[in-house]
Amino acid sequence: MDPSLLRREAEAIGGRLTAWRRDLHQHPEIGFQERRTASIVAGELRALGLDVQTGIAETGVVAVLQGERPGCTLMLRWDMDALPIQEAAGAPYASVHPGLMHACGHDGHVAIGLGVAQVLSSHRSEVRGCVKLLFQPGEEGLGGAERMIAAGVLENPVPDAALGVHLWNVRPVGWFGIADGPVMAGAELLEIEILGQGGHGAAPQQATDPVVAAAQVVSALQTIVSRNLDPRATAVVSVTQIHAGETFNVIPDRAVLRGTIRTFEPEIRQMVMRRVTEVTAGIAAALGCTARVRLTPLTPPVVNDPAVSAKVRAAARGLFPDAVVDESERSMVSEDMAFFLQAVPGCFSLVGSADRERGQGPAHHNSQFDFDEAVLPRAVALLAAATIDLLSEA
Ligand code: NI
Repeated sequence: MDPSLLRREAEAIGGRLTAWRRDLHQHPEIGFQERRTASIVAGELRALGLDVQTGIAETGVVAVLQGERPGCTLMLRWDMDALPIQEAAGAPYASVHPGLMHACGHDGHVAIGLGVAQVLSSHRSEVRGCVKLLFQPGEEGLGGAERMIAAGVLENPVPDAALGVHLWNVRPVGWFGIADGPVMAGAELLEIEILGQGGHGAAPQQATDPVVAAAQVVSALQTIVSRNLDPRATAVVSVTQIHAGETFNVIPDRAVLRGTIRTFEPEIRQMVMRRVTEVTAGIAAALGCTARVRLTPLTPPVVNDPAVSAKVRAAARGLFPDAVVDESERSMVSEDMAFFLQAVPGCFSLVGSADRERGQGPAHHNSQFDFDEAVLPRAVALLAAATIDLLSEA
C-alpha cells in the first residue's frame, strides 16, 4: 500500500473531518449520555455499508468492516465523551451546552475514527481480514472500557490486535509518540482515615489530634518517591484532599485524606502501596492515632506490545518522513484503553496536536483547550496505514 496515496486520501477528506469535529465540539455529551454523538457515528458508518451495532454499554457503537480477503481481526478504539467543564476558549464552534466541553480532544478522536472508516472502506480490496471499530462511551473515569468488554466487544470476532490514539497537546502537529511497553500510568484511588480523640482546641493535652497526624502523614508520604523508589524509576503519590474538623476551637475525632497513586510497573506499584500503608500506620501510631488505608485500583497502565508499536512507528515514518517519531514519551495520566490492551496486544499512540503558531496548545482538561485541526487527516492516515499493514503482515 502506497503511503503517499493514503496520505492524500486522508487530506482530501480534511474538510469533512473538521466539520465532524466542530459539530461534535459544539454538542458535547458526558459519559454514557453520548446519544447524539452515537447516532451520528452509527449513521455515518451505516452509510459506508458497515455492519453496525448500537446501545453497547449504553451508548457505545461497534462496527465491522470486512475486507475482501480473509485474515485476522484488528480492533480500533475511539472514545466519545466530554467533560463537565465550562468552555472558555471562545471559538466559533464552542460548546452550546453550558458546563459541558470537549476538553480532552475526544471530539477529534470520533472524527478521526469516522475518517479511518471512510478511507478503509474505499480500500476493502486491500484489507485482509476484518476491522472492528469501537466507539466507546464514558472514558473519563467512568469505566466505559470495562463495560464494553463486559458487553462482549472482545468476542465474535476476537481481535488479534488493537490500536488507539490520543491527541496530545503537549506536542506540536508533526510529532508522534509511539513507545514500547507502558505509555500511560496505572492509577489507584488512595483514601486514608486517621482516627484520634477530639477535644477542646485550647486543651490539646486532653485530646489526640488527628489533624497534626494527617499533616505529618502528607509530608511523610512524599518520602516514598524520594527515598524508597529507585531514582531512575517513576511513580507519583499525590494527596489532593484533606477533610477534618467543623470549627476553629474543636479538635476533631478524625481526619480524612484522599489522593492518587500512579505507577507503570507492577513491582513499583506493590512497593508504593505497601509503603503508603506502612508510613501512614507508623506516623499515626507515633502520634497516638490509628489509621485506615484503603487503596482502590482504578485503571491499569496502558502497555504497548513492542511488535505492534514497531509496525505503527514504521507506518508513521513511511507516511511522514519528516515527522518526529518519539519512542520514549510516557505520561503519568491514565486511560482506560488499558483494559483493552490487557486483553489484546496493541498500541496506543500519542499524536501531537498543538497549534504550530502558538507553539504549544492549552493543556488537556483545561477550559481553554483546543487543538490544531491539521492533526486530523494525519491521524487518519496513520491509523489507516497501520491497520492495512498490520492485517497484511499478520
Ligand atoms: Ni482523553
